[in-house]
Amino acid sequence: MGNFQMATKIFEGKGAIDELKTIPMHRVLVICDPFMEKSHKVELVTDRLAENDEKYLVFAEVVPDPTIDVVAKGIIEALRIKPDMLIALGGGSAMDTAKAVRHIYSAISGAENIGMICIPTTSGTGSEVTSFVVITDPKAQTKYALVDPSLIPDYAILDSTFTVSVPAGITADTGMDVLTHTLEAYVSTAASDFTDACAEKAMKIVWENLENVVKDGQNEELRGKVHNASCLAGIAFNEASLGICHSLAHALGGKFHIPHGKANALLLPHVILYNAGLDVSEDLPALEKYEKAARMLGIQAGTKRVTVHGLIANIHRKMQRMNIPKYITDCGVNEEEYLAAIPEMAQKALADRCTATNPRPVDEKALEELYKSLCRGGS
Ligand SMILES: NC(=O)c1ccc[n+]([C@@H]2O[C@H](COP(=O)([O-])OP(=O)(O)OC[C@H]3O[C@@H](n4cnc5c(N)ncnc54)[C@H](O)[C@@H]3O)[C@@H](O)[C@H]2O)c1
Ligand SMILES: [Zn+2]
Repeated sequence: MGNFQMATKIFEGKGAIDELKTIPMHRVLVICDPFMEKSHKVELVTDRLAENDEKYLVFAEVVPDPTIDVVAKGIIEALRIKPDMLIALGGGSAMDTAKAVRHIYSAISGAENIGMICIPTTSGTGSEVTSFVVITDPKAQTKYALVDPSLIPDYAILDSTFTVSVPAGITADTGMDVLTHTLEAYVSTAASDFTDACAEKAMKIVWENLENVVKDGQNEELRGKVHNASCLAGIAFNEASLGICHSLAHALGGKFHIPHGKANALLLPHVILYNAGLDVSEDLPALEKYEKAARMLGIQAGTKRVTVHGLIANIHRKMQRMNIPKYITDCGVNEEEYLAAIPEMAQKALADRCTATNPRPVDEKALEELYKSLCRGGS
């Protein structure tokens, strides 16, 4: 028996931000990063709140890969304004901060029914529709993926107006996060017809359009398509969950501060090879699913195994065209330090929430080998 729930109301399309005025709220905490304030994007939100005479406070201290400290500061702001609504404006970092703030503030204040609106400004994490929050503990040098249905936002506003300013490098990284979400959800042990439908659509959109968006960031129509794909991928993985690519990326990002999407991109080809069993002689269950994905993306090369090899080669070529590196040392990481950190990262990746739904069982040794494959001459 399975179930599929869509709890978030989605407004999408250019100008969707105007829907903000139709959502009932009175006291609002807006959470974003400093860039949103400096670039005046936050005013696209606060002007609309002012028009409706709503009281608001802006907390603009979110950092990439949000830390426990940033969440604590956000809770202090919530205690000041006692919001009935939180609005997150930004990428996954702002949305995850706001989701964690709402959760903890509700628990400590006893306030019930605090609403949450997410306005994503990158096309990547899908956090606007997920029950996932990823928080970094800088002392432990790790990222924790927390999952709870109460974390799901009430509203998502997908307006491409906010995404045209994303630089090419961040567009590429976050887009690769979307591709990873679709492929991990697709081969997950918890995948269903419902999650497959969302994953397939999102996969096709991002595959066909990401490179053009990286080349021409001002193309709002394409931006809008990739923005919707990011959300559809979020819907897919919210139910199907993810796999070891994310587990490995979380530990890698926590230790070496590589942007989330880039960490996934580096690892994805190696994870596909492992999950499909291209390193062993027997065919593994995920092989068929990867082959189906490859065919859907226009890659067809004879046998299932050769087709999946083709998928991997095409992902590498796509990354190269978008200037995403293939090796860890090209991300400013010292190889000796990296190799020394592998056992600890593998241990953390094994314990990560996303490992449970990976299609091929893993142990620490297998995860260590996957990390090693990010070195030149790695296995
Ligand atoms: N909750 C989930 O479901 C989920 C899923 C995947 C990843 N994550 C987490 O989300 C975080 C990553 O989020 P992200 O990839 O969106 O990056 P991000 O939110 O950290 O933003 C990356 C950079 O892009 C800038 N930026 C954002 N929007 C911009 C815009 N419109 N124009 C110009 N610059 C802009 C930000 O200022 C920041 O410097 C990580 O912590 C990751 O672990 C969460
Ligand atoms: Zn991700």
